[in-house]
Amino acid sequence: MRELLIKNRSIRRFKQSQRIPRIFLQELIENTRYCASAGNLQPLRYLALSDEISCEKAFSCLSWAGYLTDWPGPDAGERPSGYIILTAQDDAGTAVHWDAGIAAQTILLSAAEHGYGGCIFASIRREQLAQYFPALKPYKIILAIALGVPGETVVVDDIKDDDVHYWRDERHVHHVPKRTLKELLL
Ligand SMILES: Cc1cc2nc3c(=O)[nH]c(=O)nc-3n(C[C@H](O)[C@H](O)[C@H](O)COP(=O)(O)O)c2cc1C
Repeated sequence: MRELLIKNRSIRRFKQSQRIPRIFLQELIENTRYCASAGNLQPLRYLALSDEISCEKAFSCLSWAGYLTDWPGPDAGERPSGYIILTAQDDAGTAVHWDAGIAAQTILLSAAEHGYGGCIFASIRREQLAQYFPALKPYKIILAIALGVPGETVVVDDIKDDDVHYWRDERHVHHVPKRTLKELLL
């Protein structure tokens, strides 16, 4: 489990030509059936996107890596080849966000186990996304997950000086600072 968790980094550059199969996106969604859910309400509904045109539309609705201010996001050729949009009915309570976190992590761990990678997005132009995909209109868009075959190296470092900013080195390796166990324990 530890190995899988370390492998499961947020991936933002992909081998775009190696497409993630649509059936696999559905298998990832099926895995969320077994997730914990507040009150067991299971309020989440999912939209899977896998064709190139849909992926380009979804891509244009997301904000990438806020801390990398000089990087606008992945270039053509290194963009995700699939997306899963997590939604809920408009009247779902705040607990839906906890459910969504558990579901998103389940999807990403399942993807990582099969050699895929991805990134969760809360920074979404929601109205634009719903315009592109009318199936979303009756729902509240909670999160988006971009997925594909990883095209970058991401490493975890122990955090220094409380600096949470991720960064890229001269070889374009993405570094993610994480708090140490000592810091986590009260
Ligand atoms: C709820 C949530 C929302 C996020 N939203 C975005 C986002 O809008 N854009 C983005 O590039 N990354 C987003 N991320 C990814 C985080 O930046 C990433 O998890 C963090 O940098 C740590 O990297 P790691 O996932 O490899 O541990 C989000 C992550 C979470 C959990």
